[in-house]
Amino acid sequence: MSKNLIIALSKGRILKETLPLLATANIAPLEDVTSSRKLIFDTTLDHVKIIVLRATDVPSYVQYGGADVGVTGKDVLMEHGAEGLYEPLDLNIARCRLMTAAKKGYQSPAGRIKVATKFVNLAKAYYASQGIQADVIKLYGAMELAPILGLADEIVDIVDTGNTLKANGLEARDEIHQISTRLVVNRASMKMKHAEIQPIIEQLSRAVAQS
Ligand code: ATP
Ligand code: PRP
Repeated sequence: MSKNLIIALSKGRILKETLPLLATANIAPLEDVTSSRKLIFDTTLDHVKIIVLRATDVPSYVQYGGADVGVTGKDVLMEHGAEGLYEPLDLNIARCRLMTAAKKGYQSPAGRIKVATKFVNLAKAYYASQGIQADVIKLYGAMELAPILGLADEIVDIVDTGNTLKANGLEARDEIHQISTRLVVNRASMKMKHAEIQPIIEQLSRAVAQS
């Protein structure tokens, strides 16, 4: 008999692109996860349940064993710190870049600068690596407003098309990391539930290779 498996998915942008990949492994939720108020869903495989979380909570659930497997962005994983997690597969969806940005043509001060971001750890590490002293202000969204309203000299945020920056009079500066969505697995689950997890990784790898 198969051991029970919990897969933690990120709600929002990643969810819609993750479900078709999981479906290739015969895992589909039995009801519409986007419209239901439920947080835990039965699936087409009796032993597999899906939970739907904020992307930023997925690493904690997988790290502490609340979920066996998770799907979330590399940005979220790097910001969280990936101890206790295997990262066996790049799902190659929601590709984007983590970048610094500032007002178009703006020259940041030569000394300490102010940086607004929701990626506090990554921003601190990046500016330190560049030898720049940065006071990092944590925001939870709409980072683009911070330089406009004088809260910060620069922001660190996700850039895809660049449209959001452009629409707000900002420009991208330096690329910090290339980002895509990753499959992560709890270390203990990888050992204890190898028979259940390995076929999913293999099937998802095939689906990614064909996409
Ligand atoms: P929350 O609203 O819960 O704070 P979020 O707004 O970061 O989370 P989403 O916008 O759904 O959540 O983004 C989820 C992931 O998708 C991000 O962690 C990142 O990896 C990726 N992503 C974010 N923005 C883009 C984008 N514009 N284009 C492509 N991928 C993106
Ligand atoms: C993300 C990110 C940027 C935007 C970048 O926001 O925080 O604001 O996408 O994409 P672009 O370069 O293609 O314009 P999202 O759309 O997820 O909204 P939110 O994070 O503010 O909810």
